[in-house]
Amino acid sequence: MKGLISDLDILDGEELKKEEVQITKEEGNTGKKKLYIESYGCQMNFSDSEIVSSIMKEQGYTTTSSIEEADVTFLNTCSIREKAEQTVRNRLNHINGTKKKNPNMVVGVLGCMAERLKSKFLEEEKIVDLVVGPDAYRDLPNLLSEVETGQKAVNTFLSREETYADISPVRLNSNGVTAFISIMRGCDNMCSFCVVPFTRGRERSRDPYSIVKEAQDLFDRGFREVTLLGQNVDSYKWSAEQNNKARLEKSGVEEIINFANLLEMVAKVDPKLRVRFSTSHPKDITDEVLYTMKKYENICNYIHLPVQSGNSRILDMMNRTYDREWYIERVDKIKEILGDDCGISSDMITGFCTETEEEHKDTLSLMEYVKYDLSYMFFYSERPGTLAEKKYEDDIPLETKKRRLNEIIELQNQHSKENNAKAVGKEFEILIEGTSKKSDQQVFGRTSSNKVVVIDAANHKKGDYVKVKVNDSTTGTLFGTVIDN
Ligand code: SAH
Ligand code: SF4
Ligand code: F3S
Repeated sequence: MKGLISDLDILDGEELKKEEVQITKEEGNTGKKKLYIESYGCQMNFSDSEIVSSIMKEQGYTTTSSIEEADVTFLNTCSIREKAEQTVRNRLNHINGTKKKNPNMVVGVLGCMAERLKSKFLEEEKIVDLVVGPDAYRDLPNLLSEVETGQKAVNTFLSREETYADISPVRLNSNGVTAFISIMRGCDNMCSFCVVPFTRGRERSRDPYSIVKEAQDLFDRGFREVTLLGQNVDSYKWSAEQNNKARLEKSGVEEIINFANLLEMVAKVDPKLRVRFSTSHPKDITDEVLYTMKKYENICNYIHLPVQSGNSRILDMMNRTYDREWYIERVDKIKEILGDDCGISSDMITGFCTETEEEHKDTLSLMEYVKYDLSYMFFYSERPGTLAEKKYEDDIPLETKKRRLNEIIELQNQHSKENNAKAVGKEFEILIEGTSKKSDQQVFGRTSSNKVVVIDAANHKKGDYVKVKVNDSTTGTLFGTVIDN
């Protein structure tokens, strides 16, 4: 899952975006054991690091932003493309130097790469003391005590149930206004290019009441926006019978909650709490979800709907289980129910196995049809163990993959620019998230459709809703003035 969209829009698959690495913040507590976590990959991983910090806090650790003073260093890793794994390997080499100065520092690898490589990691990277997969974080205290006795420790057990529902995440990189809430884990789709089902295990949905409680707590603490996270949020499904026999006996009704129901439950926490979600799967997004979005003003008018390719033969080989026509029908439906103002973004892969020039052009023409506000674009990177690796030859030369990638990036830039230009003269309500990166005299917020608007700071605070009129635009940003407050 990508998405979760920053104001630095386009990603070319070669460069790690700034947002793709997060480090823990200084908690300012002295005298305690210090934990440093660096997180790579998607928001799911960033969200998991907040759960890990919470588990470690119980063990007396506070987070630090400086690896030099860490007692424990964790890298929460990503396997999605070869480049992502290479970045982690390079980082481990670098950390080797830190460990020489501080030989007692424990180095742990968490997340998707830990799951994929398991104990092989310990053989390949001598500096690593601890390897822990995404479903085994509750075992961290035990694993750390094993390490303290001089052993290496591994737990990459994948669970069918674990959702960490009861763990209250330590908000690591929070601006105090927006937060992520994990609503499900794993993925049961078998997109042929994708490593996630192997690194994250089977799909499971989290208890909706724990999700609503987390949203309410965040709202009470001053947060004004939550993003519900899952690899395929539309297949969220929770039934009291399956998950909680006790509650079923008490209520006597068999309750089944789908994603539309969950959205509604979270939207009702407070009209001043914005609700976003990611990622939607084109095969599963229902009209019921679209109507629920329409019904609640505070459910944001924005959908991340990754297409991957605009060609039906390639989509079939990718095992995406929809074709071009199906995807176009879903986009038409979004526009019909939610209007042209609904923001739509995508992920795309160029140079998948056997992709011809004509088939690549189908991706360009689909982009022309949808005119995405934003896309995350990558060239295909073969991943060990995936269906595509087993069945197909990775036969498109790297230069061709990259040239095709540049073509879609260029087209996306043009569309982002045009869409932003169309916003000039229009009025929006934005939620202020912080000070503009370029000037402390300015603040920025987002529209419901996820566009970033910069305005003069005046006396606007983080968490304020402000009505603005847009006067100017670039590819990534709108500039506005306040119209009434
Ligand atoms: N669950 C989300 C995507 C998760 S991975 C969904 O189904 O849309 C985020 C993005 O990484 C994918 O959408 C895809 O565009 C890209 N990606 C995944 N595997 C890849 C690979 N092997 N090579 C290149 N890009 C890949
Ligand atoms: Fe990967 Fe497909 Fe699952 Fe997304 S839906 S995480 S691309 S297998
Ligand atoms: Fe996310 Fe990367 Fe794992 S994209 S689910 S951290 S492989």
